Amino acid sequence: MEKKRENWGSKTGFILAAAGSAIGLGNIWRFPYVVGENGGAAFIILYLLCIAIIGLPVLLGEVLIGRTAQRNPVGSFRALTKLKFWPYVGGMGIAAGFIILSYYAVVAGWSFGYIFEAIAGSFFEFNTPDAAANHFNSLTGNVYWIVGMLAVFMSLTMLIVYFGVQKGIERGSKIMMPALFILLIIVMIRGITMEGGSEGLSFLFEPDWSKITPLTFLEALGQGFFTLSLGMGAMMTYGSYMSVKDSVPSSSLQIVFLDTLIALIAGVAIFTAVFSTGMNPSEGPGLIFHTLPVVFTKMTSGFLFSIIFFILLSIAALTSTISLMEVITAYYVDERKWKRHKVVVVFGSLTFLFGIPSALSFNLLSNFTIFGFTIFDLLIYITANIMLPLGGLLIAIFIGYVWGLDKVVVELKKGAEKLFERSHWRVNVWKVLIKYFAPVLIFIVLLHSTGILRKILNIFN
Ligand code: TRP
Repeated sequence: MEKKRENWGSKTGFILAAAGSAIGLGNIWRFPYVVGENGGAAFIILYLLCIAIIGLPVLLGEVLIGRTAQRNPVGSFRALTKLKFWPYVGGMGIAAGFIILSYYAVVAGWSFGYIFEAIAGSFFEFNTPDAAANHFNSLTGNVYWIVGMLAVFMSLTMLIVYFGVQKGIERGSKIMMPALFILLIIVMIRGITMEGGSEGLSFLFEPDWSKITPLTFLEALGQGFFTLSLGMGAMMTYGSYMSVKDSVPSSSLQIVFLDTLIALIAGVAIFTAVFSTGMNPSEGPGLIFHTLPVVFTKMTSGFLFSIIFFILLSIAALTSTISLMEVITAYYVDERKWKRHKVVVVFGSLTFLFGIPSALSFNLLSNFTIFGFTIFDLLIYITANIMLPLGGLLIAIFIGYVWGLDKVVVELKKGAEKLFERSHWRVNVWKVLIKYFAPVLIFIVLLHSTGILRKILNIFN
């Protein structure tokens, strides 16, 4: 006898949880530093294009696959096609989730550790970016601190996934997300009003196209997938807990909107401060930890705000690590018949162990590089820029060519009858995007950035 699959407790449950998955360090930590490394406004425009013509259509598709099949990524493909290849795509997604979780929890650990730095008032001892950067480097340089925080954060994640989908995930998201949003706006306003802050706005909104290289396209695409939790089945898994009474298109649109809004607000908050304090925008992964403490020292009630901020950032990260863990869990529970508790303990511990090399990339292994990347940077690159776009490409191909768009549209209509009554053009736009635009564009970007396209073109010259 099969047990009835758990469903989200309310109509907004899916949106909240999916937004919780999407909104996290990707928006507040990764978006600013990737923008900084890729020259600002021109990159942001590429990124927004990727989100609109690739991210949103693929998100819709992914959620729809999950909702229709009501299974984990591997089982979903297996339920929708007889072809043996497709479950492996789900498998690649689960592997990607495991890797992402391992380094993501390292950064989430920093955020968590910064709560205590804030409480200790450490930020107020350094009101220049250099002092803040030194402090960050000495913390991440400490093996015990960085591995300890990784352990603490993985434990938190395990604790929540251990207690199940609805109870754990849904409850938290409802209160914390709006709070984070408000606090970010406060920090952003302080940034804009800082002396010289407007230079940051020019950096963010006045494009300098000379900064764009073929690799910038891949970075923009990769960031798009990463921030929307796309391309590895996380949204598929969350979609599988969704009821057919809820509209996939409108919830997807809301998620994309919220996620993009938060990234842009975080961008403004960070870069106004970066330029006002004369920092280097391309500092890399440490950027927000070098910048924000300085902003807090310049704020009224900065002490209080800094504590709340890092608490909320940690919670935003937690709702994302939960979604990553949930993908692995759903697979082992559905397909391998493991007990939920066992998956959490086994894979939570494995993720912690696998995360250690990433943590050591900031201290003991900082000089150990592969292709010029530390282990941490390499894992980010492989997952965000290669595995996720590849997963997205395959999902788009699956929807456009394997599942059959007619069947897909029948599923899409469920819960979205109103949208369909009013007009059909939106559905047609989506069909064209998912069948032609998304796969072709992702394919070109992937080929281009690996240099394969250049080699092919050279043959013709
Ligand atoms: N999107 C999250 C963020 O921006 C991170 C994340 C959670 C993720 N689940 C994912 C990224 C699945 C890729 C795939 O912080």
